[in-house]
Amino acid sequence: MEALANLAEELHHKLAPMHPGYYDLDTCRHLAQVVEQIRALKAKRNAVILAHNYQRPEIFEVADFIGDSLELARKAAGVEADVIVFCGVHFMAETAKILNPKKTVLLPDLRAGCSLADSVTAEEIVERRKELQAVYPDLAVVAYVNTTAAVKAVVDVCCTSSNAVTIVNRLPNQHILFVPDQHLGEYVQQHTEKTILTWNGSCYVHHQITPENIVRIKQALPHARVLVHPECRADVIALADAVLSTSGMVEYARRSEATEFVVVTECGLSDRLFLEVPEKTFYKACKLCQFMKMITLDRTLWSLETMQHEIVLEEEVRQGAERSLRRMLELTA
Ligand code: 13P
Ligand code: SF4
Repeated sequence: MEALANLAEELHHKLAPMHPGYYDLDTCRHLAQVVEQIRALKAKRNAVILAHNYQRPEIFEVADFIGDSLELARKAAGVEADVIVFCGVHFMAETAKILNPKKTVLLPDLRAGCSLADSVTAEEIVERRKELQAVYPDLAVVAYVNTTAAVKAVVDVCCTSSNAVTIVNRLPNQHILFVPDQHLGEYVQQHTEKTILTWNGSCYVHHQITPENIVRIKQALPHARVLVHPECRADVIALADAVLSTSGMVEYARRSEATEFVVVTECGLSDRLFLEVPEKTFYKACKLCQFMKMITLDRTLWSLETMQHEIVLEEEVRQGAERSLRRMLELTA
């Protein structure tokens, strides 16, 4: 009883300053109970919890590993436990299943999708590749990991926000169809001699962020470094001091001699920065991802209790997707 009360106090102390009014003591008492139940059930089921950087901060309390898409893919490939509970969105849980097919992979809420992953289908890519190859016979198709397993199965290689430029530059092909994020595709084009043909997809979260808000913060805080995710629009990227993946931002903030930063991505990353780099100050120029926020501590407990929702893939699709993901991992090994 005393241990539980202490945990509730600890959570309140840690989380309340980040979101005043939300993590009151009653809420933290409930969260502490759920945290304890999840920890016990994880041991019973021989499960690990992998969490993306955008998750709610209470999820970090039960996570065995927190990271960006690339780090999570690498981690998932090496998991030895029987069960992986993925606190992130659907394509991330699929990636874990693709790379570690013998494990049971669970996503606590099937509504945790991704607007970017929804913006392209495998059939559309097959058709577009045919059209473009008639003009550019050496065409390669590069898919951002924010895609379905079916899409990954019909492309040449995958990439993430942290390695997109490297992957494109290391391919032997001169012409690249880059799907589905137009903004990341445009960003890659600025950093390569190759010809990038983009797709008309975007992340609804990053697409909403406009330059005006950042310019206003910069005028008040001219010394603050502006950290921008490459899913942002080109006019937002133009204001960046550094363009980084989510974990790239954490690393940059930790190592930089600067003490103030404007964080331009999904708001959950600011929570991770407040917790991990408490000696520095972070200003939010961010938006919330409704999909990431579908995952709650209660849903995570439910997932472990009921062993739902299990990610199941057709073996042919899984193998095709694994080929594209493994090629990415090899090209950046
Ligand atoms: P990262 O790989 O940089 O964490 O990005 C994932 C994502 O979904 C960004 O919106
Ligand atoms: Fe998808 Fe955008 Fe949410 Fe990332 S932030 S999961 S790209 S909708």
